[in-house]
Amino acid sequence: MTDVDLFFLARSVHVLAVVIWIGGVAFITTVLLPALKKLASSEQRIKLFEQLEHTFSWQAKLTTLATGISGYYMLDFFNAWHRYLDINFWWLHLMTLVWFIFTLVLFVLEPLFLHRWFLQQAKIDSDKTFATIQRMHNVLLTLSLIAVFCAVAGAHGYF
Ligand code: HEM
Repeated sequence: MTDVDLFFLARSVHVLAVVIWIGGVAFITTVLLPALKKLASSEQRIKLFEQLEHTFSWQAKLTTLATGISGYYMLDFFNAWHRYLDINFWWLHLMTLVWFIFTLVLFVLEPLFLHRWFLQQAKIDSDKTFATIQRMHNVLLTLSLIAVFCAVAGAHGYF
């Protein structure tokens, strides 16, 4: 395999990982959370959310890793690290910011305290906790979609 083959592989892996990852975030935000909100039993709501989020958490971890590694490979291939010092490549900064936030949440904050905090708060006031989670997901999804939109335009020379 030549370097050029590897570059195109990295680009395809990058987009595939982003589709699975952000698609999952979109499903959780726009379908799962609103459906759970309608469940009357707060215990059932927490149990279902825990089960489904646990499975997605693995997918999100793998796809975040794949996105980061393929993105790193592409930057290295272009020898384009200087783009981080150029404000014209703000869409690269945005992609990296989204990646950084998710990596922090999935690999550091969730295992350390976010998961425990959610369970404690959900037992105290389930409605309020789910509303907070919905808001956090709305913000992250919006930011991710803007990043995807701008990354495609940026990568194809629009900006
Ligand atoms: C450490 C994190 C990341 C790095 C280093 C990175 C790097 C890159 C690079 C170098 C490109 C190619 C740019 C070009 O052709 O000029 C690219 C494209 C792209 N990236 Fe990222 N990226 C990262 C995270 C993300 C995230 C989190 C998203 C989604 C929210 C994303 C979505 C995209 C998209 C949609 C493209 C355009 C693909 C195309 O149309 O060919 N990237 N990325």
